[in-house]
Amino acid sequence: MSGTFLFDGQPVPFEDGQTILQAARAAGHYVPHLCWHPDFPAHGSCKLCIVKVAGRHVSSCAMPAKDGMEVESNTPEINGERRALLQMLFVEGNHFCPSCEKSGNCQLQALAYELEMLTPRFNHFFPDRPVDASHPDVLLDFNRCIFCELCVRASRDVDGKNVFALTERGIHKHLAVNAESGRLADTDFSAGDRAASICPVGVILTKRVGFASPIGARKYDAQPIRVVAMQEDE
Ligand code: SF4
Ligand code: FES
Repeated sequence: MSGTFLFDGQPVPFEDGQTILQAARAAGHYVPHLCWHPDFPAHGSCKLCIVKVAGRHVSSCAMPAKDGMEVESNTPEINGERRALLQMLFVEGNHFCPSCEKSGNCQLQALAYELEMLTPRFNHFFPDRPVDASHPDVLLDFNRCIFCELCVRASRDVDGKNVFALTERGIHKHLAVNAESGRLADTDFSAGDRAASICPVGVILTKRVGFASPIGARKYDAQPIRVVAMQEDE
């Protein structure tokens, strides 16, 4: 079965089984997202992809497209809500971009620029989670995690290693390494793993390559994320 729905007033065709986000993207419409990745099933945690359908907010990465539905996405209201979600992510972690080597290549930062986030608006939580520099080739800064579980999924489903997990609940939720010591060096993780290059923010960092791209040549310097994301498989 296939059909058509309206995305911000534009007709978008879809095939049975496609979500709103997938169909919109295939038709050239960017929908902001952080926890969705084209190679993995929807996760539904970040909520950046929210759209409005018949007056209700839904996660477009998880909601199947339906014939005749009217979807609002790029509106001041929805973008304002997306901006608030980003602001919450910024204050929950230590996202101090000027000292982060992912700056310019970071999806969280690029989306904040895209959605014109000027201030964090809420009080900072200032978490204090020690970094893990035990591995010879990869550093982990747990204070920048946005809990998208992409590394968990990539390590488990692609690398077959199960190196990462999210543990505890609520505000105490954090990324953990599956080793008795909790140290990355005590796993079989390698810098060539899919999980090593999938983090959309600055948690999983390959050592000795940081700050290699000059300002102006970084991923999101010349074009905004809405353009870059549509050109590549992220
Ligand atoms: S470390 Fe990165 S990829 Fe893994 S859950 Fe956190 S933000 Fe997502
Ligand atoms: S991209 Fe849909 S909830 Fe994260």
